[in-house]
Amino acid sequence: MVSMMNAIRENARARCQWLPSLEAISTPRYQALVDQLAADIADGTLAPGDRLPPQRLLADALGVTVGTITRAYREAERRGLVEARVGSGTRVRERRSDAPRFHHLSHAADDSIDLSLSIPIPHVMRQQQLSGALASLSRHDPSVETALAYQSEQGNRHHRRQLADWLTTQGLPMEVDELLFTEGGQHADYLVLQALIHPGEAVASAALTYPGMIAAARQLGLKHIAVPMDDQGVRPDALERLCQQQRIRLLYVMPEHNNPTGCHMGPERRHALVDVARRHDMLLLEDGVQFVTAETRGTSFYQLAPDLSLYIFSTSKLLAGGLRFGALRAPAALIPKLCAALRAQCWAPPDLIAAVACQWLTSPEADSLMRWQWQEVAIRQQRVQEVLGAHQPKAHPCGFHAWLTLPDPWRATDFVSRAAEHGVTVISADPFCVGSQPAPQAVRLCVTPPADRTTLETGLSRLAELLEEEPLRVSPMV
Ligand SMILES: Cc1ncc(COP(=O)(O)O)c(C=O)c1O
Repeated sequence: MVSMMNAIRENARARCQWLPSLEAISTPRYQALVDQLAADIADGTLAPGDRLPPQRLLADALGVTVGTITRAYREAERRGLVEARVGSGTRVRERRSDAPRFHHLSHAADDSIDLSLSIPIPHVMRQQQLSGALASLSRHDPSVETALAYQSEQGNRHHRRQLADWLTTQGLPMEVDELLFTEGGQHADYLVLQALIHPGEAVASAALTYPGMIAAARQLGLKHIAVPMDDQGVRPDALERLCQQQRIRLLYVMPEHNNPTGCHMGPERRHALVDVARRHDMLLLEDGVQFVTAETRGTSFYQLAPDLSLYIFSTSKLLAGGLRFGALRAPAALIPKLCAALRAQCWAPPDLIAAVACQWLTSPEADSLMRWQWQEVAIRQQRVQEVLGAHQPKAHPCGFHAWLTLPDPWRATDFVSRAAEHGVTVISADPFCVGSQPAPQAVRLCVTPPADRTTLETGLSRLAELLEEEPLRVSPMV
């Protein structure tokens, strides 16, 4: 009997054109099947139009009941992953026009392949997991009750404990009392400058840096000094020279991978910058929003110099940008000033958002989502190297973007507009330049906005073809 069942199973497995693995899954089987289906569509294993195995065949192949498969296919249809047609079975749905959109900021034309935004890879798992976190919170009375109450400026201690424990598992050990919540990473950048730097004082960063920091410094009337950089980011010798000429209150850094250049700081570089900061009584603001895995992360500045350093965390690149949830780790001596600024702005970020974000972030589902995303990003970065390797794009394996220095005689503005004509949106170096620093002839390409890998590959191939061409430039009449 057992051997007959095994034979049926083996036969069915051999005939299934798609065979998911349901091992090591904690959710109900039908749900695990739908999650696997969603993941296989996202990574291109299943293409639009591909036919799923007949229900009976898949049930035999997986050793589950037909009812489980029926329920899974129905749920997949409800989530818009597949469509069932009488006579032609269940097929993966055409996704080009209805891929989940978790951003509304893109300047890309509707039919353009958007490689311009640094956003998490769109995936239906995000909607499902947020719904799950909301449902589970609403069943948990105390969380709803506390969310109704005013909180201290630093944020609810229970949620800070949850976040601190989670960060510790990621190689970022922190004390609960060193943490305060913000409304995302951008808010944390702004808060630090507003609370700790006086108008007219100077802050510094790499000459090419995150545009949100440029905007925050400008908005607050601060002097923003561009520090010359090399392939590890800010150069300590250049910073030292600048410090001898003027007082710089704070250095902003992204040591894991700089947005936009993708460069990573090694341990010696970090120590050298701490030395300069100590000598000149300068704060170090580390922006960790472009979060990387514990295995690839170097030692954080706040671990090297806890009394001088602040660290910014956000769920925007891990879970969803729309959550607007972030946190700031600061030395104890600076917490009162930061709290005073928070109180003046908004009293405290909403506890309901902290509750949802912490519930989601610390769930096993979020763990698999993040693991999937990091794997997928690494594969996508490999594709960038395969397609554009001749031009040596710089990137981090966990990085959402790659930095492409254009071959002579391409100019970035021409390349961006020619790419748009070819249906691909990328950004030139201009928005990342501090002050009137000259922009290099380079573009940033983000690998994460396309929901599927095939679209990304099409975009990359179009860029590679374009790079083979001579730029069309009409000389003005003189
Ligand atoms: C380096 C860096 N810091 C901060 C932010 C803003 O993060 P959030 O969306 O959490 O405000 C971004 C967003 O792209 C970023 O790249």
